[in-house]
Amino acid sequence: MDNSKPTTQRARDFGLPDYFDMQAAMGQTKHVGGWTATQELAQLCHLQEGQESLYVGCGAGTAATTIAMEYKCHLIGVDLLETMVESAREWAQRRGVAERTEFRVADAQDLPFEDDRFDVLICESVNTFVPDLDRAAQEYVRVIKSGGYVGLNEAVWVDAPPEAGSEVMTALTGQKLRTSEEWMAMLDRAGLINLVDRVYAVEMKKEARAQLGFLSFWDYMRILGRFLSTFLFDSNTRKLMRLALSEPRAMYDYMGYGLYAGQKPA
Ligand SMILES: C[S@@+](CC[C@H](N)C(=O)[O-])C[C@H]1O[C@@H](n2cnc3c(N)ncnc32)[C@H](O)[C@@H]1O
Repeated sequence: MDNSKPTTQRARDFGLPDYFDMQAAMGQTKHVGGWTATQELAQLCHLQEGQESLYVGCGAGTAATTIAMEYKCHLIGVDLLETMVESAREWAQRRGVAERTEFRVADAQDLPFEDDRFDVLICESVNTFVPDLDRAAQEYVRVIKSGGYVGLNEAVWVDAPPEAGSEVMTALTGQKLRTSEEWMAMLDRAGLINLVDRVYAVEMKKEARAQLGFLSFWDYMRILGRFLSTFLFDSNTRKLMRLALSEPRAMYDYMGYGLYAGQKPA
C-alpha cells in the first residue's frame, strides 16, 4: 500500500454512518460495555497467550490493541474502512504491539483468510451494521479452527422500545439492534455449539468508566486533543456532535449489550 497518499474515503461510500469518519480521525471507536465487556468476552472464548486471534471490525484499534497487550496473543484486525485500519496500526505502534498484530481492510461478510486458521474470533459492536448477518456468521465459523471460539458483543433491546424506537435508533446511529434470541439463533444457524449468552443493561455511570479501561491518561489526552482540533476546524464534526446530543437518552433505558460465545464442533 502507498502510505504517502492521504485517504479520501468516506464511511458513507460503504453504507456506514458519517460519525465513523470523525471517530477514525480522533483515533477512538467504542462498543457498549467497554473493556469490562471485552475481558468477559475474551474469557468466554478462552483466549490464551500466544493464540492466533482475529478481531473483526477493529475500528480505530483501541480495543484490539488492548487485547493484544493484555492477552499477549497474535492478533489480526480487519475493518471495512481503511481510515480505521490506519488508526489501528498507529495504536499498535504506540502501544508496542506492532510485531504481534496486523491490521487490514476486509469485509466481515467475505473474510480473506483460509478455513480453520484462528483459535479465537472476537467481534464487538459490528454486526448491527452488517447487511447479511448469516453470511458474516458463516465466515466467522469458517475461519476458526475446530474447537475454537467465536465471541460477539452486540447491542440488544433488553426491553421492547417505544413504538418506532427501533427506527429512531437506526436513523441516529445507523445500527439495527436485535433481541438476544436473534443473536443466539444466528450463531446456532452458523453451526456453533456450547452457546452461552450474558445480557447486561446499559448503566451510564459504569459505562463511562468501562470505556476508559482501554486508555491511559496520555491516550485519553491524545484523543481529546484530536477531538478538539476536528471540532474546531471541521464543520461536519460540529454537525455530528449536535446530532449526538439530540439523541433521546431515554432510549438507553431499553438498550443493553449481549455477550455471545460458541465453539466450532470438532
Ligand atoms: C462501532 S465501531 C466498533 C469498533 C471496535 N470494535 C471497537 O469496539 O472499538 C464498528 C466498526 O465496524 C466496522 N464495520 C462495519 N461493517 C463492517 C463490515 N461489514 N466488515 C468489517 N468491518 C465493518 C466499522 O467500519 C467500524 O469501524
